[in-house]
Amino acid sequence: MIVEERENKPSEQPRYYVLLGAPGAGKGTQAEALTGILGLAHVASGDLFRDYLSRETELGLLAKKYMDKGKLVPDDVTVRMVLERLAEPDCAQGAILDGFPRTIAQAEALEAALRERGQRIEAVLYIRVSNEELLRRLSGRYICKNCQTVYHIRFSPPKRPGACDECGGELYQRSDDTVETARKRLDVYFSQTAPLVEWYRERGVLIEVDGEQTIPEVEASLLEAIESAARVGGGEE
Ligand code: AP5
Ligand code: MG
Repeated sequence: MIVEERENKPSEQPRYYVLLGAPGAGKGTQAEALTGILGLAHVASGDLFRDYLSRETELGLLAKKYMDKGKLVPDDVTVRMVLERLAEPDCAQGAILDGFPRTIAQAEALEAALRERGQRIEAVLYIRVSNEELLRRLSGRYICKNCQTVYHIRFSPPKRPGACDECGGELYQRSDDTVETARKRLDVYFSQTAPLVEWYRERGVLIEVDGEQTIPEVEASLLEAIESAARVGGGEE
């Protein structure tokens, strides 16, 4: 299996995959699983902002003003933060990008930065989920304060209520997961991020995955998509 063969092998070029999808589509859930399997770093812009905020840095406090309203943090700040993160040693083999890019301007900045280093995105994996299902998922989500593992009160509950299965950390609900802010985030997604679907499709790197399957089924579909992208990229098809 191509994915297994590639696992943990130093590759010549870092591999970058983008997980694209609405709030609640399952980007964070799937990124955690994929990074473990593929041996790549997990780079999640939302997690980075929340981490800066937990340390009460200037960047975190600035981001909070936008996040609490369900709005996007300005492109220049976001792009700088993610590109700095991608330059860290654990990204040397590549990364799963979760929640970035989220605007055409961010996608162009990422494309330009990678092109400068002779690199490119292997595939953009678009996780498609209906609006009703997205709202159901966001309202039942719990996250580990310590390791960011994602749970759902009904769809993927922790073994012990309130505690993380992975590290025993305390679970909490994100402040932007209220119904009102979640709706606003969905509006922002449709106006500012959804155009990226066509943008990446035109570039021939978009692969759609049905995000309404169970969590393991979505994972299997994503791995299949990654393998098919590797075959095409490697000139086998
Ligand atoms: P961010 O943290 O990226 O949030 P988001 O895009 O709104 O996405 P979510 O994390 O809400 O959803 P997800 O797709 O990761 O779903 P999850 O796996 O958790 O961004 C937050 C804010 O930061 C933004 O609003 C913005 O202000 C700012 N920001 C971030 N990036 C930015 C950028 N690039 N530019 C500008 N601003 C930026 O799953 C959701 C729930 O569903 C969980 O409970 C999970 O257990 C459950 N679930 C997952 N998959 C399934 C399944 N298949 N079946 C049943 N349940 C499932
Ligand atoms: Mg997320």
